[in-house]
Amino acid sequence: MLANFSLVPAPELFDLYGLVLPFLVPSETTVFYFNPSSPSCRWELLQRSQLYDHPQMVWQRAEVYSNLYSRHNSHIFVLACLSRTFYEWQLKSLATTLTRMRSVRVLIEMEGEESFFLASQVLSLCLQHSMLNVGLYFRSFSVFSYRVFPYFKLIKQRISEETQPLIFTNQLVDLGGYQLRVQPDLAPPNSILYRDLRGENRISGFLWQFILTFAENLGAGIEILYPPWSKPKVSTNEYMIELTRNGSSDFGVTPGNIMFKHAERFRDHSYPFMYSNWCTMLPMEKPLGTNSLFTHILSCGSATLLAAMYLVCFLVRPALIRLLKIIICNRLMRLFSRLFFLAMVCGCSAQLLSLLISPPIRSRIHSFDDLLGSSLKIFGMRNEFYFQEGDFRAKYAAAFHLTDSPDDLLDHRNYFNTSWAYTITSIKWLVIEAQQRHFAHPVFRFSEDLCFRWGSPYSLLIAQESIYRERLHHYIIMMVHQSGLIEHWITRSFYDMVKAGRITIKDYSLPRRVQPIQLQDLRLCWRVLGTLLLISFAAFALELLLFYTNVFLNSL
Ligand SMILES: *[C@@H]1O[C@H](CO)[C@@H](O)[C@H](O)[C@H]1NC(C)=O
Ligand SMILES: *[C@@H]1O[C@H](CO)[C@@H](O)[C@H](O)[C@H]1NC(C)=O
Repeated sequence: MLANFSLVPAPELFDLYGLVLPFLVPSETTVFYFNPSSPSCRWELLQRSQLYDHPQMVWQRAEVYSNLYSRHNSHIFVLACLSRTFYEWQLKSLATTLTRMRSVRVLIEMEGEESFFLASQVLSLCLQHSMLNVGLYFRSFSVFSYRVFPYFKLIKQRISEETQPLIFTNQLVDLGGYQLRVQPDLAPPNSILYRDLRGENRISGFLWQFILTFAENLGAGIEILYPPWSKPKVSTNEYMIELTRNGSSDFGVTPGNIMFKHAERFRDHSYPFMYSNWCTMLPMEKPLGTNSLFTHILSCGSATLLAAMYLVCFLVRPALIRLLKIIICNRLMRLFSRLFFLAMVCGCSAQLLSLLISPPIRSRIHSFDDLLGSSLKIFGMRNEFYFQEGDFRAKYAAAFHLTDSPDDLLDHRNYFNTSWAYTITSIKWLVIEAQQRHFAHPVFRFSEDLCFRWGSPYSLLIAQESIYRERLHHYIIMMVHQSGLIEHWITRSFYDMVKAGRITIKDYSLPRRVQPIQLQDLRLCWRVLGTLLLISFAAFALELLLFYTNVFLNSL
């Protein structure tokens, strides 16, 4: 293989090549050769003579190679040849070229004498540009690399046949107590600020728990960047994005909705940790009144059928007995009819009892059309309503009661006022559901039939080129989605709010009063009884009429 060299390079180059080769081995790895100022780098030799079986891209201009990300995947190995005087802006344009690919492996070669100071300068600049996988080589037998956590440390490793230098290690395995800078939004239930028994400020809430567990996973601590507000405003998100953008904070702990607000801003957000539906919570339908329960015992059709069957039996029985002339048949028939009556009476009274104990509810609302037909209205925000499509607004405007003040909505919703239905996200619903567990019976239900938006992705705020982005992505997929931890944390955030004194555990359900059956509840029974009596009187009168007509006719 080495015999292929047309130009015999210096012997140390073989060693270095032996070092670099393992990283280049996967055949799908593309070599990106970055040399903006063309000092005589030794890689020139290699890329011409030895790296020919790898796809190669050579960039020798002093400007940024744009769109590398959209043209290639991350199977790229970067060889960079930088000058001692202009390395600052050269590194900057390399970093810009590697937008969204800062985690690829980079080996930098620098001309001139080996310098510890220069190596430290170059590598700390790499850290500023979020490039962690960097090796620096000065044409000597050693390679510089650096460790980020828990503090910056330059590492110099000699290259020799015996020792395999470790340059491209995974730096995020253990952060050794390094402090991640995290800014909470202090909006319950995401993050809740409270004072513990010793009077110290503490934070709880489901998103806080989420980031705390992430930091624990990395072996890191957390430095809290308190926001300047005590109650979140509309501009919360804007402010927090500014901080992650200018590098003052690593994570903005607020559920940013990527999809519909600023589509072009998705790079400021992490991989979505949750998908939320925006739907309606409806008051539980009221149970039916006692007087209408009787209509649920026997349907009209089955009552008529039973009466007809009884009539047929009554008419057919004497004929049958006469035909068969068997006494046992007569007894069997009588036994059967009595058993039948017993079964009917027991069945009906059991049905009545079960209806009285847990009465069925009034007809459910399954669609916006049902809602229009009922007297119930959805209490919602005016600006959110005008976000809906024109057709929807025109058709269902009457089903909404709109307000401009979020506090007005929250006042009604938080106190479980059943005069209205309310718009709510499925995240917030988990909290309400946890609260309802302390009621004698639930007051509201979450209706997935009345939704305005499905599956909006929610994610944290993170710097565009954050070194934690990939780890957070893995964490979300492996820990949070797969295990359902996030739902658990949201439910638990209700208790965090109770602990922080934001909510008290109180039963907002109205007690169901048990009342004795009254005369008017039996209205249907009286009516049936009256009708049957009338029928039998009529039959009796008819019989008498026939009899006396005959008597009268005979006496003529
Ligand atoms: C980042 O932005 C915030 C908010 O605008 C500002 O207070 C802070 O000084 C900025 N930090 C840097 C390093 O620019
Ligand atoms: C519920 O809301 C209605 C209408 O806003 C109001 O009249 C009523 O007093 C409220 N009920 C409770 C218990 O606050």
